[in-house]
Amino acid sequence: MDSAGAHLDSIRSPGRGTGRTPPGTVEVDPRVPAAPAAAAARAPIPVVRTAGLTKQFGRFNALTDLTVEMTQGEVFGYLGPNGAGKTTTIRLLLGLLRPTRGRVELFGVDAWSRAAQVHRRVGYLPADPATYDRLTGRELVTYLGHLRGRQDPTGVRALADRFDVDLTRPLRSLSKGNRQKVALILAFMGEPELILLDEPTSGLDPLVQQEFHALVRERAAEGSSVLLSSHVLAEVQRMADRVGILRRGRLVAVESLADLRAKAVHHVSARFTHAVPREAFADLPGLRDLTVQGAAMRCGAPEASLDRIVKAIARFEVVDLTCQEADLEETFLAFYGQEDVDAAHHHPQDPA
Ligand SMILES: Nc1ncnc2c1ncn2[C@@H]1O[C@H](COP(=O)(O)OP(=O)(O)OP(=O)(O)O)[C@@H](O)[C@H]1O
Ligand SMILES: [Mg+2]
Repeated sequence: MDSAGAHLDSIRSPGRGTGRTPPGTVEVDPRVPAAPAAAAARAPIPVVRTAGLTKQFGRFNALTDLTVEMTQGEVFGYLGPNGAGKTTTIRLLLGLLRPTRGRVELFGVDAWSRAAQVHRRVGYLPADPATYDRLTGRELVTYLGHLRGRQDPTGVRALADRFDVDLTRPLRSLSKGNRQKVALILAFMGEPELILLDEPTSGLDPLVQQEFHALVRERAAEGSSVLLSSHVLAEVQRMADRVGILRRGRLVAVESLADLRAKAVHHVSARFTHAVPREAFADLPGLRDLTVQGAAMRCGAPEASLDRIVKAIARFEVVDLTCQEADLEETFLAFYGQEDVDAAHHHPQDPA
């Protein structure tokens, strides 16, 4: 997987004593640990790969030039406000929409021209699950199982028990949340290698959400890849390894959760025995929202700035000091703007 490993492998493999270096090899630091030969031999095919993926509806650009990859076992949070293009992306990934430009490969296979082949390996939760009102959950499970060419009665029973949903009742008699649970079972049944979930938690109560989070992490640990769309980071941050941020059809950032955490805003506040000058803190790098009032100072700062702030504070006599990490949602907004959140908070439900 990593290139150092690949180089090491190609250096070791030639017959001993030939003195030849195969073409394309480079000198490698011998302290770099060897990667397993199998991983080095071939780069894994990404589960999802898009290149320049673009979708226009008439003249309207719903998605512009999306280039992204997802690896096996990865949970990817796909975030954006209403109308950003999340559902459009997911429908393109499934080959339900034809790209205007660019391409989508799932498991290295073209998603548009070979959709049926790809669908057998993919679970999908649509944003507004078609309800098939008259069918029961069980009938729907059987029907979709036939379409996928695979039934999974044991898996379905386990999921139904886990989500506590009755598959013998017609869907029209179920509550919204219970219909959503049936839709989740349909997405997860048969252990698909890729699971695409369009706003999966809408309508689920907190306990069911927790169960759902656990299920996503378990499936990822077993090697499935999961894409979750959402309006807000808070909803996906406990599950996702990476988040992509979509705005007006463009992917404006992709971050690992670990990187986002390192950027996490910390709220620092200090009280001193005497008034302090604002200039003592004003020039520190990375500071946000500095206020100095008499003998008190407050500011926001990323982890990387904390050392210098603490040292600036220490030049004065301190009475009290607190440093608290903000939640990731706040950090996310600090970097990607208020716009997204306003949209999400004013329209928490999908209006479509
Ligand atoms: N079939 C279509 N014809 C015309 N415009 C469309 C069509 N489907 C989507 N759009 C437009 O493309 C844009 C992206 O829509 P999309 O449904 O992908 O957004 P979304 O990110 O899923 O939003 P939400 O959070 O509200 O579900 C929207 O402006 C929408 O109106
Ligand atoms: Mg949508």
